[in-house]
Amino acid sequence: MNKRRITAEITAVGGYVPEDRLTNKMLEEMVETSDEWITERTGIKERRILRDPALATSDMAVFAVKKLLEDSGLLPDEIDCLILATSTPDQLLAPAASLVCEKAGLNNAWGFDLNAACSGFLYALSMGASLIESERYKKVIVIGADQMSAIVNYTDRNTCILFGDGAGAVLLEPSTTGAGVIDYIFKTDGKGVACLSVPAGGSLEPASVDTLATGRNYVQQDGKTVFKAAIKGMSDACVEIMERNNLTEQDVNWLIPHQANLRIISAVCKRLNFPPEKVKVNIQRYGNTTAATIPLCLWDFQADFSPGDNILLTAFGAGFTWGGTYLKWGTLRHNN
Ligand code: UT7
Repeated sequence: MNKRRITAEITAVGGYVPEDRLTNKMLEEMVETSDEWITERTGIKERRILRDPALATSDMAVFAVKKLLEDSGLLPDEIDCLILATSTPDQLLAPAASLVCEKAGLNNAWGFDLNAACSGFLYALSMGASLIESERYKKVIVIGADQMSAIVNYTDRNTCILFGDGAGAVLLEPSTTGAGVIDYIFKTDGKGVACLSVPAGGSLEPASVDTLATGRNYVQQDGKTVFKAAIKGMSDACVEIMERNNLTEQDVNWLIPHQANLRIISAVCKRLNFPPEKVKVNIQRYGNTTAATIPLCLWDFQADFSPGDNILLTAFGAGFTWGGTYLKWGTLRHNN
């Protein structure tokens, strides 16, 4: 007898952004920049910043998980596993996922962190999907969360205008309807580490008075090189995944790209021949929240998606890491 393929369907979403806003006008007071330059070169108008020193990435992830649980009507104890994609864990050791399980009361879940920078959520989504497809687990939460304000140098105008804080989460459950994660293509090119990193604070160059004085504990980026590589990486990944799944741009209902720069998104759309009305963009409100950009889009725009919609997700980030995921939207628990 032919058994129907089990896929991992998204059945609930949650998100969180801090209340505090950092606008372009405020940045004008901090570094030599202008609202006009930032808007024209990046599309960003404001970002959210987690200012409470008692809170960190795990807390934003917990807020997103709580919204997701509320949305789904599930109890914390029903969750089997949690994967947290982040580049800004609360501490280098231990995993922030442990703190999320503890603070959100996920008493029966095991959890771990995954670091693939801005591509982290897509990598984690594929891991979560594999756990569901293995039929060992029935409810897996995948989160993308980053507190970029903790690793950004607010005297460096090249980087401080770009990033914000936030968290987004999805619940994966087994489905036999054909909805869920259908396919993914991922790439890694370690030559990219030189172009985008936080050089110090890890095992190579532990934090010291010197690394703090030279700003090596903060994000450093060769923006132009990353810009070009991001356009090529995201468009190539989309083309490859569409070809492999016999999809034309007409078959794809929505494109959700990583939100790093509006000009990158526009260039990817142009290459793919995607009309802007099919592309989800919220960068103007949140800036680049690293692993959180894609799940925050899923959270923000969930009302626009219908069962059966073909959705392409694509990301590019430090590492370099990049790729694309083909997802068929299903039915959210709250719609059932
Ligand atoms: O999440 C994945 C990783 N990140 C990305 O994907 C980001 C990729 N890169 C970018 O988004 C863009 O490269 C940036 C937004 C970072 C920079 O835009 P750009 O068009 O590549 O500008 P640029 O770095 O070539 O700088 C152009 C000029 C320079 O002045 P000169 O040398 O031409 O006199 C910069 O010093 O703009 C200057 N500049 C600024 N001016 C005002 C750089 N940052 C600023 C600023 N305000 N904030």
